[in-house]
Amino acid sequence: VNITIIDREGVSHEVQAPTDMAMNVMEVVRGYELAPEGTIGICGGMAMCASCQCYVISENVELPEMQDDEEAMLSEAFNVKENSRLGCQINITEDLEGLVVELAPES
Ligand code: FES
Repeated sequence: VNITIIDREGVSHEVQAPTDMAMNVMEVVRGYELAPEGTIGICGGMAMCASCQCYVISENVELPEMQDDEEAMLSEAFNVKENSRLGCQINITEDLEGLVVELAPES
């Protein structure tokens, strides 16, 4: 699926995210090297670090519902906004076509 990731410098990248590799948004950001190594995905996608926090910009793409661990992590993280999600908790599926997310600042 095509998704757009706005990096921490504000540059927009439209990328192709595979739906058949059990990847999530955080791994796509890493795969395309859209954030410096060591600044995203620190906990390995366990919803325990918030380094993968992103703001969901698109309004017409339905995302998987937030689970308790994601909600708990976001309640402790910095720079949280109403549209914050953890990239590692959003699996890449066909439903994500057209998703636009902006990476939250490094914290
Ligand atoms: Fe740590 Fe997502 S990679 S919370």
